[in-house]
Amino acid sequence: MKEQLQQLQAEAIEKVEQATDTKELQDIRVAYLGKKGSLTGVLRGMGKLDKEERPIVGEIANQVREKITNALDGKLAVFEEEALNKKLAAEAIDVTLPGRPISVGGPHLLTTIIEEIEDLFIGMGFEVKEGPEVETDYYNFEALNLPKDHPARDMHDSFYITNELLLRTHTSPVQARTMQKYDGDKPVKMICPGKVYRRDSDDATHSHQFTQLEGLYVGKNVRMSDLKGTLDTFAKKMFGADRKIRLRPSFFPFTEPSVEMDISCKVCGGDGCSVCKKTGWIEILGAGMVHPRVLSMAGYDPEVYSGFAFGMGPDRIAMLKYGVKDIRDFYTNDVRFLKQFHHA
Ligand code: DAH
Repeated sequence: MKEQLQQLQAEAIEKVEQATDTKELQDIRVAYLGKKGSLTGVLRGMGKLDKEERPIVGEIANQVREKITNALDGKLAVFEEEALNKKLAAEAIDVTLPGRPISVGGPHLLTTIIEEIEDLFIGMGFEVKEGPEVETDYYNFEALNLPKDHPARDMHDSFYITNELLLRTHTSPVQARTMQKYDGDKPVKMICPGKVYRRDSDDATHSHQFTQLEGLYVGKNVRMSDLKGTLDTFAKKMFGADRKIRLRPSFFPFTEPSVEMDISCKVCGGDGCSVCKKTGWIEILGAGMVHPRVLSMAGYDPEVYSGFAFGMGPDRIAMLKYGVKDIRDFYTNDVRFLKQFHHA
């Protein structure tokens, strides 16, 4: 019986060694160690043995079971490792492959310019305000000293929605709105960037929608020299410390006196060239001392308060600063154009 057991062990172990997959191992386990397996079969014959021999054969049988079990488990572990290695190899990622590029967007040039101007004026104590693009006739015109039949309204070709509502033609209405909120007895120092609309035919220098940036400073003893100093600081920071400014008399219904500001031409240094139309100067913005009627309509006493205001076009500033020849490039969204100004 001893030999029988040893032979059974040798046979089982050989089969385990030759097994090629886990299914075969499972079959061997059943065939030798299962309830109806060969080892169990041999052990059933133990009853016929002598009393003394039984424990000896029993022990051998246990050893045989243990050896076969170990062989099966060992081989199973080998198969499992092989399977795992195969899976790892199949799922391996080639970290040296170049990644697929993700195209990243960036701010529009006008946004960049507006933020730059905002930073400049915030540095001089101005707050940034906003106002509605659909505006009432009152704020867009009347509160700015442009009554219904005023000829200067002709300068603004407006998109009317109703008799009393229109798309704002400038950011100046935000002056009146802000002053009203300040109750007539507090200083106001604000800028307001935003979109404005005019019924113009689009060409290289006109767009029916463009941007403006309004500025207003109302307080006690605000003088023309404050306006000049503020605009000079702005021009030098925006266009370069070597730039000069000049104020020319002009007319706006909401300021008295009114001026237009030019900066010296960078291209020719003031000698005259095609960019500045041989004048040496480039027009940048309109400005002036807030008209007493505008102050009083907004609740400020013109005997106590005075102020200055200005309005500029970020589109024009961006065109000058970056040599953009056609204003429509800002609004037709050709990424090849816009991408040139992403420096992030
Ligand atoms: N609102 C004017 C325009 O659209 C620009 C402007 C000129 C604004 C003079 C001002 C100013 O505040 O004082 O043409």
